[in-house]
Amino acid sequence: MIKRYGDYFDDKVILITGAASGMGREAALLFGGQGASVVCADIDEGPGEDVAGTIRAEGGESQFIRTDVTRRPEINRLVEQAMAKYGKIDFLFNSAGSALKRSKFLDIDEDLLNLAIDLNFKSVFNMTQAVLPHMLQHQFGVIVNVSSMSVKRGGPGASIHYAAAKGAVTTLTLGVAREFAKEGIRCLSISPGPFDTAFQKASGTTAELAQKFLADVPMNRLGRPSEIAELVLFMCSNVCEFMTADTVYVNGGGGYR
Ligand SMILES: NC(=O)c1ccc[n+]([C@@H]2O[C@H](COP(=O)([O-])OP(=O)(O)OC[C@H]3O[C@@H](n4cnc5c(N)ncnc54)[C@H](O)[C@@H]3O)[C@@H](O)[C@H]2O)c1
Repeated sequence: MIKRYGDYFDDKVILITGAASGMGREAALLFGGQGASVVCADIDEGPGEDVAGTIRAEGGESQFIRTDVTRRPEINRLVEQAMAKYGKIDFLFNSAGSALKRSKFLDIDEDLLNLAIDLNFKSVFNMTQAVLPHMLQHQFGVIVNVSSMSVKRGGPGASIHYAAAKGAVTTLTLGVAREFAKEGIRCLSISPGPFDTAFQKASGTTAELAQKFLADVPMNRLGRPSEIAELVLFMCSNVCEFMTADTVYVNGGGGYR
């Protein structure tokens, strides 16, 4: 049962990438439950349609648009369709991402490097560039990007390709926030530690690596995707509008060893 926080989100529109699973899915359901219109984008059609269908079944408004965020023409089409349907985009949550494959540094080949950058960084760049002009028309908008705790650690032995791409997300977030701060736009990132989502399997996390992640978290548990969804809702709300540019770590106290 989703708790209602008031009517602030009733007339708002959010576009979420990676909405079919994990943090994106939880955010879609939470915003839908708050009354926002939710545009769900993902490459995974069945689960993406399910999320939009669940929001509608509970009385909310949502549409799924299949999108590969590594392709700029698909991003442009997504934003055009969202604008045609809802007339504005108030919030953008860039959640799509993956470490793709665990690999030691010297084994990261060009294909893996390119895909890691395309999926985790260029997608955020392109989504932001496609959505921002519409936000600027209203001098209002909040963009929330998912970075990673791996930015602090560098991903040695398993995911330097991914950590470096996420580092670029943190930097892009800072730059966009500062360039558009006077125009009603806020841009923030979230840096999660290990979370219990399909990400682990999709990224090829071995049982041994998962155990290593967990051993490093003083709370001795993985994060829950609903915890990220609540943070996204807080960031997009009007309760702390002085907040922009920075990343918020969500990691159970881990990641500093
Ligand atoms: N789970 C973790 O431990 C963790 C930790 C730090 C950061 N993150 C980041 O959090 C974000 C959300 O991940 P999650 O844990 O919810 O994982 P998840 O695997 O549950 O969800 C990721 C979603 O992205 C979608 N996606 C993948 N490639 C895509 C593409 N080309 N186009 C469109 N959609 C695509 C997937 O279909 C999936 O629905 C990601 O950016 C991830 O890198 C996750």
